[in-house]
Amino acid sequence: MNVLPFPPVQQEPAASPAPLPAPLLRAQDLTIAYDTGAGIVRATHEVSFDVYEGDRFVLLGPSGCGKSTLLKAVGGFVRPTSGGLLLRGRRILKPGPDRIVVFQEFDQLPPWKTVKQNVMFPLLAGGVKRKEAEARALHWLAKVGLAGFADAWPHTLSGGMKARVAIARALAMQPDILLMDEPFAALDALTRRRMQEELQALWEEVGFTMLFVTHSIEEALVVGNRILLLSPHPGRVRAEINSHQFDLAASGSAEFQAAAQRIHGLLFGTGPGSDHRAPGAAAGPAQAVHA
Ligand SMILES: Nc1ncnc2c1ncn2[C@@H]1O[C@H](COP(=O)(O)OP(=O)(O)O)[C@@H](O)[C@H]1O
Ligand SMILES: [Mg+2]
Repeated sequence: MNVLPFPPVQQEPAASPAPLPAPLLRAQDLTIAYDTGAGIVRATHEVSFDVYEGDRFVLLGPSGCGKSTLLKAVGGFVRPTSGGLLLRGRRILKPGPDRIVVFQEFDQLPPWKTVKQNVMFPLLAGGVKRKEAEARALHWLAKVGLAGFADAWPHTLSGGMKARVAIARALAMQPDILLMDEPFAALDALTRRRMQEELQALWEEVGFTMLFVTHSIEEALVVGNRILLLSPHPGRVRAEINSHQFDLAASGSAEFQAAAQRIHGLLFGTGPGSDHRAPGAAAGPAQAVHA
């Protein structure tokens, strides 16, 4: 008869933090290069980040650091040279209605279609019935404050209104993630602030997930809840910071200005903070920068 010498040891389960949910979007070691014919141009080098459901995730860096390239890769328009790109665990291989891009050039609204027709167009192209497409277009136009402009022509709209049409058109597609490439860069300063405010209000109301590209530190702080800082060409990850505590109302505060200063130092400085990645710095940017 086998007798166990000791009663089996009861192991206390180790106290572990609640597991994070799986990311909606996972970018892993993305290196993206263009073959220009005259040579290879490396746009990004081993860039990794995770975007979770409900995030307002910002890619921030100077012009030419590969932000648009990263967004296009997420959109499925550019194939990474190496690294992985997963949406809900599935590899991104081509464009799809689960990822809709809003670009800076609002004049891509076809001028021969009314505002409503512009919003309906991709829905109809995607097989949505006309009646349903119209209802969805009107719903989203109302959400962006353009209920009274459904039958207007694009050329009669201000830049801010065109931006709203582009956002309504994108959200009407009900994408998993909204991709925005410097969507307000062409607007005057006041309209830009207003659009940042409206985007924030819309996010609070609707709760979509977005990946937002900008080269403006202030815009990144206002729009984002998390910011990935990218070095100049080729883009590498300098740091990742939390910025959920800032909004437009905070933009005059000393804390906001200090955060902007530190981000500036991280982006352009060569100090010890450079190339340091500090994901989820709980106490705000100040902690992330010199950790
Ligand atoms: N289609 C392309 N062919 C060749 N080089 C490109 C192409 N698109 C971008 N690049 C180069 O890749 C780098 C990153 O560009 P981009 O992603 O547009 O940067 P950002 O959006 O941050 O300004 C730049 O050096 C740019 O010249
Ligand atoms: Mg760009």
